Amino acid sequence: MKVATWSAPGKVFLFGEHAVVYGKPGIAMAIKPRVFVTVRKSRMAHHAKSPYIDSCFDEMGVRGSVYVNSQLPSSSGLGSSAAVSVATLSAINDEFGKKYRPEEIADMAFAIEKKVQKGRASPTDTTVSTFGGLVFITGTSRRRLPPHHFNLVVGNSLVQHNTAKMVELVAEMKKTNPRICEPVLDAIGEVTLAAMHHMTDAQKLGDLMNMNHALLDVLGVGHPQISRLVLAARAAGAYGAKLTGAGGGGCMIAICPKHLKSRVAGAIESCEARAFSTSIDTEGVRKEKDA
Ligand code: PMV
Repeated sequence: MKVATWSAPGKVFLFGEHAVVYGKPGIAMAIKPRVFVTVRKSRMAHHAKSPYIDSCFDEMGVRGSVYVNSQLPSSSGLGSSAAVSVATLSAINDEFGKKYRPEEIADMAFAIEKKVQKGRASPTDTTVSTFGGLVFITGTSRRRLPPHHFNLVVGNSLVQHNTAKMVELVAEMKKTNPRICEPVLDAIGEVTLAAMHHMTDAQKLGDLMNMNHALLDVLGVGHPQISRLVLAARAAGAYGAKLTGAGGGGCMIAICPKHLKSRVAGAIESCEARAFSTSIDTEGVRKEKDA
């Protein structure tokens, strides 16, 4: 029987999370773990129990069954909800012979993220998941950068976070302490711009990640377990490490010399966390061969 299986990559914020919500620049990158979604025409409603998947079927105006196989942990800052939306919309597009272009799929997925997250989302995750590679974001504009290979280790604190809550927390912090928070958001933007000039210098990027992490801590989105993983990664020889995504738990990233990747991953895992090494995925959403 004919079915459509599509996959979409997760992402990490290399620089600029939270600051992008205020129009500052940021850099995000698609990473190897993917979400696989299979859609089949069916008169019966699907049973996904996910507001993202429900919204994909509503948006496309069809009904079908759906099967999701995710290599990405959810609610951890690796963009799993965007990857689910992008892959589901693409699979529906294929299975039901709709003719939406990737740009339209990215826009629809962003509208769904925004609706489910009650108005608070940047188009970063859905853009990166649709097109893959490295993306520079400022306000609503998005530009694909030439791909670079970074030796990255991702550490998952196993503390689930809520992106909308963390974005709200920063908004509150900014309202209460504007003269402290506004320069901090500006400084995060400056860190991103500096990184743009050093994309091939891992050591320099590591220093900039360390600065970005400290600035995010000032905004109140840190978490003790994330700090522990960041310090462990640095002590094991990473060039630099920072939280990635909304914070308050979730994941951190470390940029490392190639030969130290497994040592850094081991140091993170010894802090009751999960770690995996990864690098850029230049491919965005794609059709998988039928099983
Ligand atoms: O939780 P994540 O990985 O989707 O990261 C959210 C990043 C923020 O900048 C805090 C919000 C956004 O929509 O860009």
